[in-house]
Amino acid sequence: MDIHKVSESHYKFSYNREILTESEAKELIVSDGAYLKENQEILCRTSDVESFIANCSDRKIFARKTSPSKWWKRIFGRWMTASETYFETACAIRDIGLYTPRPIFTGYDLRSESYSSFFVREYLDDAIELDEAIFHFEGRTKVQLLKAFAYFVAEIYSKGIYNCHLCSRNVLAQPDEKVQFSFWVVDLDKRHKVWGSYRKTYVKFLARLTFGFYDKLNMDDQNFFLNQCFDAALKNNIYSRPSYLSQFNKSFKRAINRKN
Ligand SMILES: Nc1ncnc2c1ncn2[C@@H]1O[C@H](COP(=O)(O)OP(=O)(O)O)[C@@H](O)[C@H]1O
Ligand SMILES: [Mg+2]
Repeated sequence: MDIHKVSESHYKFSYNREILTESEAKELIVSDGAYLKENQEILCRTSDVESFIANCSDRKIFARKTSPSKWWKRIFGRWMTASETYFETACAIRDIGLYTPRPIFTGYDLRSESYSSFFVREYLDDAIELDEAIFHFEGRTKVQLLKAFAYFVAEIYSKGIYNCHLCSRNVLAQPDEKVQFSFWVVDLDKRHKVWGSYRKTYVKFLARLTFGFYDKLNMDDQNFFLNQCFDAALKNNIYSRPSYLSQFNKSFKRAINRKN
């Protein structure tokens, strides 16, 4: 990816040169995202966050404007905003070959009264949330989906990415013509970077791997999924990892015993 960083007296931004020109990126930051707001479709609005789908440079994008209400988040934001963390993590994840929607822009205007920052990523039209996919597909396809997801978790771990916020709503599933699935991770702003020999590792609480759909599966699917996940993600990949992983391993085993 061709990422360019700009830091001037009262704003800083990074943008993806494959998609935006510098003047488009600058326009985004100085107008506080105004031009994204035409024809937008709001997805979520809370006191701190506004997410929407919009058009940018002739493509559909997912944008998130964050205006932290807590004073300490504002102070941290001057150093690194949640949007920047997201942007950097997305770049790192794509660098090691995992899928996350292409990051397009992140920026922060120090004069912004609401201390708002922006993050813009490509929108995936043909991907659905994993939870939705689990209930959409039946029979053999569902088994394939569960299996593919288990291997995807294994792949993530084996590449040294431990997502602090890995849950089934933050994974998008994309079937191809042969109904083989690819998975995309979103929601990457809770990053914890480990230095030293695990420099590429984004770790915190592995135990936060949660599946919204799990309780709604029938017993057979639950067992299948748990066994698959255990085999694929844990046995093969994380035994050689640092000690905090053994904790996760234990809780995973406990969960299996409870469910069986
Ligand atoms: N690039 C994208 N393409 C398609 N859908 C997306 C994209 N990014 C997010 N979504 C959808 O929007 C939802 C919310 O996005 P997310 O980044 O997880 O923010 P939140 O912090 O609100 O959970 C996701 O669960 C997913 O369904
Ligand atoms: Mg999310």
